[in-house]
Amino acid sequence: MTTAVKTPADDIAEILLDADVIKQKVRELGARIADDYAGRDLVLVSILKGALPFLADLMREVPIYCSLDFLEVSSYGAGTTTSGVVRILKDLAKPIEGRHVLVVEDILDTGHTLSYVIEHLRGQHPASLGLCALLDKPARRVVPIGVDYKGFEIPDKFVVGYGLDFAERYRNLPFIGVLKPEVYAGLT
Ligand code: IMP
Ligand code: MG
Repeated sequence: MTTAVKTPADDIAEILLDADVIKQKVRELGARIADDYAGRDLVLVSILKGALPFLADLMREVPIYCSLDFLEVSSYGAGTTTSGVVRILKDLAKPIEGRHVLVVEDILDTGHTLSYVIEHLRGQHPASLGLCALLDKPARRVVPIGVDYKGFEIPDKFVVGYGLDFAERYRNLPFIGVLKPEVYAGLT
C-alpha cells in the first residue's frame, strides 16, 4: 500500500480565484494594455518573485513590441505582516529613461512596496510610468496608490498561489487561495 504524500494544495482552506477566472482576467488586462501601448517603446518591469506567473501569462496576451526587465525587492520576513521596510535586492538591467514603463505586480497590500518602487523608477525619468496589479486589498492600504490596470479586489485575507508565497512556498499553485489556519501556526 502506498502512503499519499501531502502536497501544497492540501494546505488550502478555500480557493478565491481559480485558474480559469485568472486566465480570463489576464486576457482582458492584456488586451487593454496592448491597445494603450501599441506603437510605444514599452518595457514591462516585473517585481520578483511573486509577479512571475502573472507576467509570464500577461505578456503572452500583449501582442505588441515590448521588452522585459526585473526588480527584486523584499518587504516581508517569513510572516504575513508587512515590515514597511523595503529593500532593493536586484535592480533593473537596462536604463528606462525616455521609455514607457509598465510595472507588473502580483498584489497591492499596504502600498509600501509599490510606492517605493514607483519613486525609484520615477527618478530614472521614464517617458511614462504605469502600474498593473493582479490583486488589490484596498482595506489594508496605508500609502495611496493609483492602479492603471487592476485584476481583482480581494478581501483582507492572506492569499497564496499563482506566484504569491507564504514563507517562499505555494507560489506554484495554479490558483489563488487561503491557507488553513494551522499552516500559519507559530510562523506569524
Ligand atoms: P505591500 O508593500 O504591503 O503593498 O505588500 C506588497 C508585497 O507583500 C507583495 O508584493 C507580496 O510579496 C506581499 N504580500 C502582500 N499581501 C500578500 C498576501 O496576501 N499573500 C502573499 N504575499 C502578500
Ligand atoms: Mg512575498
